[in-house]
Amino acid sequence: MEIKTITEDKERFMDLLLLADEQENMIRRYLDRGELFALYDPDLKTVCVVTQEDANTCELKNIATYEKEQCKGYGSLMIKHVIEHCKGKCDTLLLGTGDNDTTLSFYKKFGFIYSHTVKDFFVDNYDHEMFENGKQLRDMIYLKINLSVQ
Ligand SMILES: CC(C)(COP(=O)(O)OP(=O)(O)OC[C@H]1O[C@@H](n2cnc3c(N)ncnc32)[C@H](O)[C@@H]1OP(=O)(O)O)[C@@H](O)C(=O)NCCC(=O)NCCS
Repeated sequence: MEIKTITEDKERFMDLLLLADEQENMIRRYLDRGELFALYDPDLKTVCVVTQEDANTCELKNIATYEKEQCKGYGSLMIKHVIEHCKGKCDTLLLGTGDNDTTLSFYKKFGFIYSHTVKDFFVDNYDHEMFENGKQLRDMIYLKINLSVQ
């Protein structure tokens, strides 16, 4: 298993990035300026994009594992890698997600806690309605982890 930092031709990972964020123009808002990590075992399993939002804050913008490879631990390995990578770069790692209990409890296992909510983010920024587990995505729920105490 190897996690590589990708600096060139990031668009070739678009199929996987679209699993976590289903509109390309939204992905392009952060793909160029973000750091892209790709986990191979030995083939590509998981990608993740992290941005530096200000001097103290990094943000995990996208994480996705190919459907047939999910629940094998690759996403967890990627999150742990990103947490270690961001230590020393910033104090806080943020991430925004839909109001979905499965996803929220997945992140909370690593120590992420509730930060804030951006009301109607998915309704205002996407050109189509999106659903997760039969429920329309509306608000973006932000979670955060304090890296200085990890
Ligand atoms: C979330 C995701 C990256 C986790 O990757 P993974 O390689 O399956 O992660 P792991 O095997 O380490 O952990 C699996 C856990 O993810 C949870 N999970 C969270 N969101 C999930 C989703 N949308 N689909 C499937 N499992 C999900 C599972 O319940 C499981 O929890 P458990 O460990 O308590 O049983 C992966 O499920 C995925 O790519 N989902 C689709 C894209 C997405 O929703 N990305 C997050 C956007 S905020």
